[in-house]
Amino acid sequence: MDRSKAPEKSKQRPGIGWAVFRRVKPFGAVGAILAFVLWAHFGSGLPVFHPKVVPAPGWQQFRAEYGMDAFGGDGYFIRAAQHGYNLFFFTHEHGSRFTRKTERDEVRSCSGCHTVEDLAYGFVNADRYDERLGRRVSFEERVMRCYAGPMDGFVPTLYDPAVRDLRILARGVAHHLQLGEGARKGGS
Ligand code: HEC
Repeated sequence: MDRSKAPEKSKQRPGIGWAVFRRVKPFGAVGAILAFVLWAHFGSGLPVFHPKVVPAPGWQQFRAEYGMDAFGGDGYFIRAAQHGYNLFFFTHEHGSRFTRKTERDEVRSCSGCHTVEDLAYGFVNADRYDERLGRRVSFEERVMRCYAGPMDGFVPTLYDPAVRDLRILARGVAHHLQLGEGARKGGS
């Protein structure tokens, strides 16, 4: 084998991509990043680049009726609560990663079985001992169980917004109803 030719051959193959990069002025890269950020923010219209939640029908009315603005009209809480609203009333659309329910199913969202008040009572009665399971069950676990069971879907992780934002929605409704820890529906 003639090894003397090998190095010469490799010299003749300069990476074309790198040559282009070397010629672009440093601020070219900065400009490209800036252009991308501006496009992502103002031009793209892609939801992943926007902190705003997709508006679902009835949100503004719900927001007013349940005093959701008590924690501020614009901020993380209200956005999370709005996302929680979407998940609760339109699970098949906004929580589609965690349910097999579709438009065709009669019960296709949490609201098909629960009222949002139930969710708030569930929230203030969470972390209780469950006789059947033989241990304490958190609000988050209840939600995860309902995704897996009645929603015929998959279990989100504890930190997924699909769980967290339902908690925030429940928190907001519980605040509006002035529910104390352990409050039961219908008093007592
Ligand atoms: C097909 C009906 C059905 C659907 C849909 C459903 N659930 Fe449930 N859910 C139940 C039942 C039944 C229980 C009581 C289960 C138990 O005691 O083990 C329950 C219990 C709960 C609880 C515990 C508090 C309570 O009221 O007992 C929470 C919180 C909850 N569900 C949230 C949700 C959320 C969030 C969704 C949507 C992702 C959802 N559920 C969808 C039937 C449903």
